[in-house]
Amino acid sequence: MTGRLVVLASGSGSNLQALIDASVDGRLDATIEAVYVNRRSAYARERADNHGIAQDFVPLGPYRDRHPEPRAAREAYDTDLADRIAAHEPDAIVLAGWMHLFTDAFLGRFPNRVVNLHPALPGTFPGAHAIDDAWEAKERAGLAQTGVMIHLVPDEGVDDGPVLLSEVVPIRDDDTRDSLEQRIHEVEHRLLVEAVATLIEAS
Ligand code: GRF
Repeated sequence: MTGRLVVLASGSGSNLQALIDASVDGRLDATIEAVYVNRRSAYARERADNHGIAQDFVPLGPYRDRHPEPRAAREAYDTDLADRIAAHEPDAIVLAGWMHLFTDAFLGRFPNRVVNLHPALPGTFPGAHAIDDAWEAKERAGLAQTGVMIHLVPDEGVDDGPVLLSEVVPIRDDDTRDSLEQRIHEVEHRLLVEAVATLIEAS
């Protein structure tokens, strides 16, 4: 059965584009029901528009204004966004470069359906600067490999959860920070499609 996806992105959306392309050319039996972004200028919005996919900008700012306590703001935001996403009846919610840590107010609504991608191997370099951190470890201590993982998000652990797929990306002697990043992105784009396809088939 064709899966229903909702994709959340904060930036360029090249991983969103990988999902769009795979759904168009048949490698991924899924429709992207909606895209949500939390940054106004996220290029992911244009990618969605170019393919006739509904997209919306849902910022955290107004929730911060209403709730001085940061956790309360996040929970209120997460609850509202979860309500909107639930209306699409998604089989999977893909965090594709989504720069916001969900609370259980969101995650509790979609058990086994929230998928994250992380540009590092399981258990390494959690947080928003994984590629920079790996590069720094290469320069400082000769780190020879990093990687990509796609995982479920069961709880508030950062870049942690049951691994769906992971793949090593070797760090070559002649790599620059940019060439390493480019190879990581190429792996991300392929692995994300594979992981989401497998998850949908199993759902
Ligand atoms: C990816 O490297 C992802 O792993 C990281 O943010 C980047 C998003 O890239 N969390 P894009 O917006 O999909 O191009």
